[in-house]
Amino acid sequence: MRMILLLLSFLLLGAECHNTDNGFKPPHIIFIFADDLWNLGYFKKEYTPTYRGFDTFLGYMNPFIGYYDHTHVDSTGLPRQSKFEGIDFYNGTSILKDRQGEYATYLFTETAENIIKNHNASKPLFLYLAHLAVHTGNFYKPLEAPAEVISKFKHIEDINRRIQAAITSIMDDSIGVVFRVLHAKNMLDNSIILFVSDNGGEVNPALGGYGSNYPLRGKKQTFWEGGIHLPALIWSPLLNLGKPRISQQLMHVTDWLPTLYKAAGNRGQQHLHSSMHWRLCDKLVQRKDIKNAGHFLAISKRVGYIQNLPDDFM
Ligand SMILES: *[C@@H]1O[C@H](CO)[C@@H](O)[C@H](O)[C@H]1NC(C)=O
Ligand SMILES: *[C@@H]1O[C@H](CO)[C@@H](O)[C@H](O)[C@H]1NC(C)=O
Repeated sequence: MRMILLLLSFLLLGAECHNTDNGFKPPHIIFIFADDLWNLGYFKKEYTPTYRGFDTFLGYMNPFIGYYDHTHVDSTGLPRQSKFEGIDFYNGTSILKDRQGEYATYLFTETAENIIKNHNASKPLFLYLAHLAVHTGNFYKPLEAPAEVISKFKHIEDINRRIQAAITSIMDDSIGVVFRVLHAKNMLDNSIILFVSDNGGEVNPALGGYGSNYPLRGKKQTFWEGGIHLPALIWSPLLNLGKPRISQQLMHVTDWLPTLYKAAGNRGQQHLHSSMHWRLCDKLVQRKDIKNAGHFLAISKRVGYIQNLPDDFM
């Protein structure tokens, strides 16, 4: 279970919460995630994305996938066969073999592009673009990027930091591509684009980590802020922002579901209302006194979250 703390802008729902007239058009939600995987199991096909609400799926199920060969290697814990390995890249429920050798970030970008291009823009789109970048890849080659991109970063002395920069810049370009395609389809005006990550960077070179969480202490898999306190970004014309704003309010990863569900119109299924999730829209407070902050400023009422429970809890 990933426990993540995010501090970010809460303005995203301002437009929707006060837009209850019948003309409401559910927004397109483009959720871009740096280094995520399908973390909800795959031991039966019923657990995989296309059986759990997604129309299509292209991606992998385990962490540490090779950027080019799309393989995963893991230990089995069994004495006779200590490890297993193979391609972990799927199109729907089929293993995708014929794209081996293609750089994962390019493949995801191309797929996102095709989904948007082929989408009927008058219907809302939910696109979850979970990149392998900027995670480390397979252990025998944790950092991989095309040579021509790596060579753009010659000013970075350390070769691994240089490759890490290349991995990051390709993801950056990918986000640009997504914006351009949405623009070409006239979908941007009614889009909410999120860019988030799941934890702080790995900084231990022995684990292939060349990230930095400075000035925060700690790293991935620690409970220091460097492991759990993350920047995130929301871009949307629906925010009605006068100008960009940085929020230091507290948000937890579990707040995304009710927040985005609300933003999408919250139609039907009432059960989310009664869930234990904190509901952002209910906390909206009108703050006309704050200049350039958009029409409405949502104030987070979250003051804490559970980070870890000892095994003997209860
Ligand atoms: C995935 O499968 C679909 C449906 O068969 C196909 O249209 C698409 O091109 C495939 N994607 C890749 C990347 O091979
Ligand atoms: C797009 O969706 C709208 C609304 O559901 C529908 O009226 C229209 O026929 C669709 N267009 C295409 C090309 O399928």
